[in-house]
Amino acid sequence: MIPQSITLIGAGNLGYHLGRRLHASGAEIRQVFSREAAKAQELARATGALPVSRLEEVKSGAGLYILAVSDGAIAQAAATLQQHLPANSAVVHTSGATPSTVLAPYFPKYGIFYPLQTFSRSREPDFTTIPICVYSPDEQLEQKLLSLGKQISHSVHCIDDEQRAILHVAAVFVNNFTNHLLHIGHDILEEEKLPFELLLPLIRETVDKIETNRPADMQTGPARRNDQETIKRHLAYLKKFPNFADVYRALTKNIGKMYR
Ligand SMILES: NC(=O)c1ccc[n+]([C@@H]2O[C@H](COP(=O)([O-])OP(=O)(O)OC[C@H]3O[C@@H](n4cnc5c(N)ncnc54)[C@H](OP(=O)(O)O)[C@@H]3O)[C@@H](O)[C@H]2O)c1
Repeated sequence: MIPQSITLIGAGNLGYHLGRRLHASGAEIRQVFSREAAKAQELARATGALPVSRLEEVKSGAGLYILAVSDGAIAQAAATLQQHLPANSAVVHTSGATPSTVLAPYFPKYGIFYPLQTFSRSREPDFTTIPICVYSPDEQLEQKLLSLGKQISHSVHCIDDEQRAILHVAAVFVNNFTNHLLHIGHDILEEEKLPFELLLPLIRETVDKIETNRPADMQTGPARRNDQETIKRHLAYLKKFPNFADVYRALTKNIGKMYR
């Protein structure tokens, strides 16, 4: 059963896409909150909702309140909402790294609606393949969240706080750190006036091959081979990028430890 109506608190990278996707899937978005009136208005227009730019204006009566605000603002937003909403309101947040229990002091019907993907406003996500991790200690609310997840994705999972925290650590490695390494590769080529496009097939193959193979079996390169001559040459070149040399040394050392 889909919650009869949703109020979305937050119109950032995730809120922007989640709100539009929920609306497109048939959910009623009642209000959209951003402290920036223009941002709230833009997303409200796209979701058929009413814009609000003060938490005090959030109305009671929505079937679900989704807090898609920065991790550090979740508790503060919940505390403010508690002053205006009935105590039995269902309130969830969307953070992978934050325990659901941060909401417990404010709303007994709390939970999680965490889409495990990286969202940037400028890039349209395909929600159908995004794992949605839901959780609530309230069985009825968890069922609602499962139904809502299935409304937008083929991959919906009940994942408790502990499991989600672990998933988030792994996600930081595979996404945030990988992207940082892409950033370093990009900067090096830019500095040397070489086109980054030359690396794109390599980047794609790195990801494609681990769909059917264990990453550990797919590792290649000088650190995997313990090719000390090449490593020395790379480090000599990287003297002009001391920060990148530190990352190179740390990863080379770690790869070495995992294979020898
Ligand atoms: N982006 C992702 O890849 C991703 C993926 C999965 C989960 N998440 C989770 O989704 C949540 C939102 O992330 P995001 O990437 O969308 O962040 P974001 O783009 O930085 O947007 C943050 C939102 O939080 C609001 N906000 C920040 N401080 C606030 C405060 N003190 N009071 C009220 N609202 C405040 C901002 O309001 P204004 O509009 O007024 O600035 C904005 O709407 C986070 O919990 C994050 O962990 C993000």
